[in-house]
Amino acid sequence: MKVFVVGSGGREHALCWKIAQSPLVKKLFCAPGNAGIAAIAECEDIAATDVDGLVRFARRERIDLTVVGPEAPLAAGLVDRLSREGLKAFGPTARAAELESSKAFAKALMRRHGIPSADFQVFADPKKAMAYVSEHGAPVVIKADGLCAGKGVTVASTEEEALAAIEDAMVKGAFGEAGRRVIVEEKLEGEEASILALTDGSTIAPLPSAQDHKRAGDGDVGPNTGGMGAYSPAPIVTPEMEDRIIRDILVPTIHAMNKEDRPFMGVLYAGLMIGKDGPSVLEFNARFGDPETQAILPLLSFDLLEAMMACVEGKLDRCQIDCAPKHALTVVLAAEGYPGAYEKGKEITGLEDAAGVGGALVFHAGTRMVKNRVVSNGGRVLNVTGVGGDLRGARDRAYEAAGKIRFEGAFFRKDIGWRALGRGRSNSMAEQSEEFRPDGGGNTETGRKQGG
Ligand code: AMP
Ligand code: GLY
Repeated sequence: MKVFVVGSGGREHALCWKIAQSPLVKKLFCAPGNAGIAAIAECEDIAATDVDGLVRFARRERIDLTVVGPEAPLAAGLVDRLSREGLKAFGPTARAAELESSKAFAKALMRRHGIPSADFQVFADPKKAMAYVSEHGAPVVIKADGLCAGKGVTVASTEEEALAAIEDAMVKGAFGEAGRRVIVEEKLEGEEASILALTDGSTIAPLPSAQDHKRAGDGDVGPNTGGMGAYSPAPIVTPEMEDRIIRDILVPTIHAMNKEDRPFMGVLYAGLMIGKDGPSVLEFNARFGDPETQAILPLLSFDLLEAMMACVEGKLDRCQIDCAPKHALTVVLAAEGYPGAYEKGKEITGLEDAAGVGGALVFHAGTRMVKNRVVSNGGRVLNVTGVGGDLRGARDRAYEAAGKIRFEGAFFRKDIGWRALGRGRSNSMAEQSEEFRPDGGGNTETGRKQGG
């Protein structure tokens, strides 16, 4: 098969790394890719948002499967366009991707179908949004409706903060069209976790759970980022909790999308708050998470390419989805200043030493080659994943490898995994065999048919 991965981050490097292991691959392409991806795939200089260019390339090369990493091309209809050309693509159509690209749509869908999520109101008029907040007070969460690269959410602890967030989005236009409508949402309490599931629109195959770290600083302080690290599985997602998430959230969501004539194929990512009363949806993404993917894919023992192809062909129920009973933890190495302004073009050294650490994987995020040297080319520069029999071992490997990499202004969080590691109990497989699902939570039967 000729396979084409769209995107240029650590997620796409991990996808290429996993797909390249499939005996089904004859040729692997990536657009636009990065310096790490270039070592395992042929990179094409086409932006991930250039839908015309991507379709032209897939047609010319007669690509057998296009795998779409980021949300923007999904929302722009890349999968629809490829299907119209008779080309197979893994990922939802633009209408199905609205589950991520319009928070107002996702919230309304959950309300219509009784899927647990925070109470909310949608506003298109800033005066009405502000009046509502003044009446109800803080804490409250303000969300821009559209895609904002993870920057459109404000968890406001005071009324002033909430009013300022509404003003930024709706009056000052901080997010352009994406902030024309805002959602004012009840603040939920609990611990966050994510469940990503492969789905062909009827069978659901959950992957090992994950938790990411969105704040820039140790102890979960500082500005929100695209994600500074992740680990998998997340101990808060016990087997009982996973069953509940499948029953109350994943199955009803896939079902609801079918009922509303928006069948969803690809990766359904549920960002959850696990509270006293159980799991609630914070957000849906219509794709693999970044950096969760870099911690999840090393745990999969099945052929991901085969499973993706099965999703496209509506045959996921025939796939065996097994996962290794291991743990993985990913540390993001970022450029000084990220998530604000940062410089690019810093030479990176120590990559080979890092990759030489047993159990460590180095995924490139924002890098490129300049005259045979790898230089930084983004805010999130590299992702180092450690894999081990327990979370502590995974963390030690990740940090040992990350410590060998150098570039000017590099920084990373030192406490990835702190919640899980600080639970005051061992994370060894032997002691947590119940909690850590010997099958890695991939599934217990072959896939899971949605109810009804
Ligand atoms: P989202 O992009 O919707 O996942 O929001 C980004 C982050 O904001 C989440 O990961 C949570 O940390 C936080 N958040 C979003 N919605 C809520 C909510 N209703 N209650 C508490 N925190 C929230
Ligand atoms: N790490 C969260 C996301 O990919 O949106």
